[in-house]
Amino acid sequence: MTRKILVTSALPYANGAIHLGHLVEYIQTDIWTRFQKMRGHECWFVCADDTHGTPIMLRAEKEGLTPEQLIARVHAEHSRDFAGFHVAFDNYHTTHSAETRHYAEDIYGKLKAAGLIEVRSIEQHYDPVKEMFLPDRFIKGECPKCGAKDQYGDACESCGAAYAPTELKNPYSAVSGAQPVLKSSDHYFFKLSDPRCQEFLRRATREVCKEQPEAINKLQEWLGEPGENKLTDWDISRDAPYFGFEIPGAPGKFFYVWLDAPIGYMGSFKNFCAKKGLDFDEFWGRDSQAELYHFIGKDILYFHALFWPAELEHAGYRIPTSVFAHGFLTVDGAKMSKSRGTFITAESYLAQGLNPEWLRYYFAAKLNGSMEDIDLNLDDFTQRVNSDLVGKYINIASRAAGFITKRFGGQLLHGHLAERFQADLPGISEAAEEIAGHYEARDFARALRRVMGLADQINQYVDKNQPWVLAKSEENAEQLHAVCSVLINAFRLLTIYLKPVLPKLAQRAEEFLNVAPLHWGDAGHLLPPAHLINGYEHLMQRIDPKQIEALVAANRESLEPTVAPAVTPPPQPSPAGGEGKVGGAFAPVIGMDDFSKVDLRVARIADAQHVEGADKLIRLTLDLGTETRNVFAGIKTAYDPAQLVGRLTVMVANLAPRKMKFGMSEGMVLAASDAEGKSPGLFLLSPDSGATPGMKVK
Ligand code: 2FM
Ligand code: ZN
Repeated sequence: MTRKILVTSALPYANGAIHLGHLVEYIQTDIWTRFQKMRGHECWFVCADDTHGTPIMLRAEKEGLTPEQLIARVHAEHSRDFAGFHVAFDNYHTTHSAETRHYAEDIYGKLKAAGLIEVRSIEQHYDPVKEMFLPDRFIKGECPKCGAKDQYGDACESCGAAYAPTELKNPYSAVSGAQPVLKSSDHYFFKLSDPRCQEFLRRATREVCKEQPEAINKLQEWLGEPGENKLTDWDISRDAPYFGFEIPGAPGKFFYVWLDAPIGYMGSFKNFCAKKGLDFDEFWGRDSQAELYHFIGKDILYFHALFWPAELEHAGYRIPTSVFAHGFLTVDGAKMSKSRGTFITAESYLAQGLNPEWLRYYFAAKLNGSMEDIDLNLDDFTQRVNSDLVGKYINIASRAAGFITKRFGGQLLHGHLAERFQADLPGISEAAEEIAGHYEARDFARALRRVMGLADQINQYVDKNQPWVLAKSEENAEQLHAVCSVLINAFRLLTIYLKPVLPKLAQRAEEFLNVAPLHWGDAGHLLPPAHLINGYEHLMQRIDPKQIEALVAANRESLEPTVAPAVTPPPQPSPAGGEGKVGGAFAPVIGMDDFSKVDLRVARIADAQHVEGADKLIRLTLDLGTETRNVFAGIKTAYDPAQLVGRLTVMVANLAPRKMKFGMSEGMVLAASDAEGKSPGLFLLSPDSGATPGMKVK
């Protein structure tokens, strides 16, 4: 039976880069949807950028853009990153769309008509300078428990205490620095405390979370015991200024971003239906027989298992079949960290030339459908990819293909291949349904363990039959032909089993095997007798541990010096992506557009001082002609401050200021160094004489 399945991943915010933590979910969902498509089901995978809210509005303002310009740019960046990791959405839309607005207004209107919207006046922190209400994250002050300065309005990063923003001592607005005042305004609430919602949620959300016992436990906690009314009403409005959709009939009030975010799933699908000629109601209508799944992180379970089904139910739509929550990503056992270089963006992973399928494989090998966190252990990553994918799977093709091509004109055995295959490698094609069951249950770890078990069996067969020994004598030609033909067939079956995880590699394997795109059902038969294969080209490189070191180094945000680590070494013949000896591998090619974003200026070092307590830093006062800047430069090992005063150098004048332990650093001076950036090889750049402070360097 062909199933109709609609699948979503959580919508990423349109103000940040996609990083490896995000990718866990997109890769998980992509594998699952690819698997469903290979099974022949009608399965659609949609997503969108989550574009509304205060942080996006303020971020755009800071960058000198309109929110629309910011979200358009980020949409392109996100789309590029997803494509780079072979995450194949059928539609990638935006919540700032006519479709999402339509469903947001529609759902709100129906909830209102059902008596589930209530207006209440509430008191909140207000920034009198910026003239806006402040979300908790935009209020800072001293922790009421430990006194640590510059803590956010909801929790202290120093002692871990949680509190209300009104408890902060000496609060200030993180937007303008002004002291916030308390001010009242009308807010719109979705009445989750209404008995209809309570009753519905008790009944329905267990169903939505049925596949994950940990999620059921959470729900139990949130809903409390029968009779207990623990759910409070949900504030779904925000006051202007706000980037979002204005609430119909409520001038100056906007839908809170979390109201329209999940509605963005509908908006994206509606947009897709129009392009594809699909019937939206078949998937979202009250009587829909289709399956609807949301893949999410465990941190947003509350929104998806409570608010969202309650909204849908009372607005006349179907509710999700299931919500699948996953855990967080740690790298080497710890939270991703900028200072350790483990906060790795999708873009930098790809820019370092790492193969996206290595990560897809590793994540898949760790994902078991539960809400447990998953760890990317960088040593294990290298070892596992090299041993499983290259050592076990690819190895099968590379050991057999050459003989078929050179000795048998690329043609597989003519007769009795199926019998031979069954006798030599029993169970390989029969494993298809069991592996499919593991994919279906999102237990990719188990699916891959099973596949690698088969790969072990096949490799033992290689070792036992030693094709390279058979090849030495003409007498064994037929045996060699049979063994290698069996191996090519075994490789083809494993390719089917791995294809949801490794779509690109599978495509190249299909070219080599000279077959049409493989579907799951193809595991039920072998290649036809005398099938011709194409010449084998190596399908996957091993990971060189140096690549991982380079990745981490490229993502390490030094908390210390703001001096350029290296400059481009002189041009020298180098293979693409090769190593230039002096400064390490060249960075990926950029266009003039990227380069021209960097505002390089001649600066005069007006003053240079030691920094108390820092071994590497010198505090520079840089004269730019029209203004001076304070910059901390990590050049103390190579220069004496007194030596520097008065000389000209080159600085990056438009680098975002960085707060350091010793004060603000407002730019960066340029210096050349060897690949590791170790002294004494550190050379501050200077312009030729005649240049004056403030001149542009192009
Ligand atoms: O937590 C987040 O990153 C949200 N942008 C997820 C939204 S998922 C859905 F509801 F749209
Ligand atoms: Zn504290």
